[in-house]
Amino acid sequence: MTASVQPQLFPSAQTHMVDLFAGPGGLDVAAHWLGINVTGIEWDDDACATRTKAGLVTKHSDVRKFGPEDFPDATVLAGGPPCQTYTVAGGGAGRRSLDQVLEYLHRMVVDGEDVTEEVSKLHGNDDERTGLVLEPMRWILGAHRGGKPYEAVVLEQVPAVLPVWDAYAKALQGLEYNVACGVLHTEQFGVPQTRRRAILIARRHGKAELPKPSHRLYRKGRSRSEGDSDLLPWVSMEDVLPDRKKFVVVSNYGTGGDPKDRGRRRSDEPSATVTGKISRNRLYSTASLSRELERFTPEESGRLQTFPVDYPWSGKQIAQQVGNAIPPRLAAHVLAAALGRKFETADLDRVVGAAWDPGLYEKPLLPTTQA
Ligand SMILES: C[S@@+](CC[C@H](N)C(=O)[O-])C[C@H]1O[C@@H](n2cnc3c(N)ncnc32)[C@H](O)[C@@H]1O
Repeated sequence: MTASVQPQLFPSAQTHMVDLFAGPGGLDVAAHWLGINVTGIEWDDDACATRTKAGLVTKHSDVRKFGPEDFPDATVLAGGPPCQTYTVAGGGAGRRSLDQVLEYLHRMVVDGEDVTEEVSKLHGNDDERTGLVLEPMRWILGAHRGGKPYEAVVLEQVPAVLPVWDAYAKALQGLEYNVACGVLHTEQFGVPQTRRRAILIARRHGKAELPKPSHRLYRKGRSRSEGDSDLLPWVSMEDVLPDRKKFVVVSNYGTGGDPKDRGRRRSDEPSATVTGKISRNRLYSTASLSRELERFTPEESGRLQTFPVDYPWSGKQIAQQVGNAIPPRLAAHVLAAALGRKFETADLDRVVGAAWDPGLYEKPLLPTTQA
């Protein structure tokens, strides 16, 4: 398949999504499960190598070179733009960057200004990311002013970006969207990993609601049988890596709670946040803590992110690609909510556990009903 050919994954479906900053395909995999046609725009050679091998439709290019007019059939816009960490508390550079982004958003939305050229003249890494976080708004406004507003918008990033999503929410409400935004915990959606994502869902028709958790919240030291009895127990690393004997992972990242336990997770717990540094984490046998085990393979890291077990990771920097992605399992919940659909957890378990096959289907792999 050539990278720019658009296959009909689900011929009876009308839904076409554009995924800005598409990475190795966390959102696209979930879209595929749901029978949504998706084109991802991504410029990184390595992420594109994975996408091509996985059969995902890709524009291997810079998001800033395109606009809604290039995808006239798209009714859903999704994206996870690279962003700075806006540390709101305590002022400083993070606060100033946030203020700058909010000011640009205001000028784009309220004053109707085209700030593209001005933003492109900013220099430095953080300045470049200021421009990128404004990109989804450029697309939203372009589609709106072109008379073909997106039916749904989905944005995702690290929790520190929530103030930017709040500003997007206000702007989208002004464009007659219903909007929900907040921070979701991945383990509450059956991902064998604790990770928090700031999510925005906007819909032109119908109520916008964040997806409801299917699984319990993880708390250090609490067993998975404790907690809300209406929810399923969280999923552990050993649930998805059955071929490994019991182990302990030691990472540089904190798990919250007791400082002595920082960065340690047992295999019968969810993984700590999977980052681009996951290949540096050390694994030890639970039976003998002095015995170091083989580190996570790319496939295993992908499993902790709920990618299919045989997802064809390709190119270089695979740990970084894996860590960049939104877990497809969480993305399936978010995309379904954005389309006003719902599904059975058992059906999601089945598709997440299945082999990756980007083939053509007469109906979605993950059946949904009206929410
Ligand atoms: C946080 S990752 C997105 C991950 C993706 N949502 C997923 O689930 O796999 C951000 C991606 O944006 C890409 N990127 C950054 N700037 C870009 C640009 N100007 N045009 C296209 N892609 C860009 C990076 O290479 C990276 O893969």
